[in-house]
Amino acid sequence: MPFEEYYRYFRQWMEPEHERARRRFESTLLFFKNQKVSASSVLDLCAGTGIAGAAAAKAFSASKLTLVDVRKEDLEKVREWLGIAEVNPELRLVAGDVLQLPELVEEHDLAVLWGHTMPHFDPFDAVRLFSGVASVLDEGGYFFIEEPDRIGRFLYNRMYRDFTVERTGAETIVSIHEGYDVRKGVERRGYYILPGFKKMAEMELRARDLASLLAIGRIFFRDANLITPSEHGVSGVSEVLVFRRPKRRIAGEVYSEFQSFTRV
Ligand SMILES: C[S@@+](CC[C@H](N)C(=O)[O-])C[C@H]1O[C@@H](n2cnc3c(N)ncnc32)[C@H](O)[C@@H]1O
Repeated sequence: MPFEEYYRYFRQWMEPEHERARRRFESTLLFFKNQKVSASSVLDLCAGTGIAGAAAAKAFSASKLTLVDVRKEDLEKVREWLGIAEVNPELRLVAGDVLQLPELVEEHDLAVLWGHTMPHFDPFDAVRLFSGVASVLDEGGYFFIEEPDRIGRFLYNRMYRDFTVERTGAETIVSIHEGYDVRKGVERRGYYILPGFKKMAEMELRARDLASLLAIGRIFFRDANLITPSEHGVSGVSEVLVFRRPKRRIAGEVYSEFQSFTRV
């Protein structure tokens, strides 16, 4: 997967020594504290440094925290977040693909997918993701996704740019639209370092509206809700989708089918 190089350049978001990441941690903690939810085990998916998992573990006083990310290198950083949060849950760090979740983790009460991560999953992978998550949550389990509506932003607010400055500083990162795969429904985007214009990463990204995520989620969970920023009122947290009460039988069937499914 192409993420290693890309995420090496976006540390100020994720690492405890950066002020911006600390503010994000505090916002996420406040958001979870405001939820009327109890959970003794928390599963942080695509966890990065575990910023959201640590915040959720603190907010819910969870005794167990599991992190899954395909990039192993960031996972250990969660110990720093847990130190900042002053909590010490039983910790499990899993370097692996969240699309194979039932093979990687056991049952949990609550899962989080934080930090605008859904573009990494094409429509078929989104089905694998949701069915996998619903398969590993207990009957009353919750799944929280922090995600903005990119179709609303890109299409109707005209925020899509085929050339975007992603980061400025000693090294500037720009990204360029380099194509669209109609079968996967993903944009191919190249990332370049300036000066020099050296290609740093190439990614396939899927822009989504939140309604279609709510609809996919509703196949695998009995409850699906959207909390907008004006509804939750926590600055620094975007829209959050909340799914509850997994339909485990359906999820298990679809998960197995989609694991062996090949795209048209
Ligand atoms: C936008 S970052 C979010 C990180 C973290 N949740 C946060 O809020 O800071 C997305 C993360 O997803 C991970 N990732 C992407 N696809 C993955 C997959 N299929 N399985 C596991 N991790 C994945 C990347 O390595 C990266 O750490």
